[in-house]
Amino acid sequence: MRKVFLIIAVVVIVLLVVGFYPSWAEKPVKDGTGPLAVRIDARYPAPEYHSPLDWWQTHHMDMVNRGDLAKTDCLYCHEPVKSCNNCHGYVGVDPIVETGE
Ligand code: HEC
Ligand code: HEC
Repeated sequence: MRKVFLIIAVVVIVLLVVGFYPSWAEKPVKDGTGPLAVRIDARYPAPEYHSPLDWWQTHHMDMVNRGDLAKTDCLYCHEPVKSCNNCHGYVGVDPIVETGE
């Protein structure tokens, strides 16, 4: 008899896990669709220091924090809402605010 209860318990746990699993979240992808898509005005070419782009995606914070590049210069091409903070919000980094510093 105990086996039956064990099986029922396992089935209930599996159903709860499946039922409450966080729903699929869209990633912030360049030129993607949906609210998190990263968009940059097509007028602007990517500067040399963005290359290779996958390196830049993971190292831009070092350049900015070290002061090699000024945050305000980024905002010449980037609108924070469309191409900084959608990703920052997704990864849990403080939003970029236009302070003029
Ligand atoms: C001259 C215009 C220009 C400037 C200045 C500029 N960017 Fe960009 N940035 C772009 C373009 C264009 C792309 C898209 C590149 C591509 O898709 O190949 C991009 C892409 C990126 C990406 C990757 C986005 C993604 O989802 O792949 C990050 C992060 C980024 N820029 C951060 C910065 C930061 C930080 C600065 C300032 C230090 C900066 N950019 C300055 C034009 C610029
Ligand atoms: C494709 C995703 C993505 C985009 C787009 C993006 N960032 Fe980031 N950014 C990150 C990640 C991830 C980190 C944190 C990395 C870490 O914690 O080591 C970060 C960290 C930073 C930091 C350091 C923040 C801190 O608290 O230390 C700065 C400054 C920064 N980003 C500037 C920018 C600017 C300016 C833009 C827009 C021009 C931008 N980022 C766009 C992913 C992105």
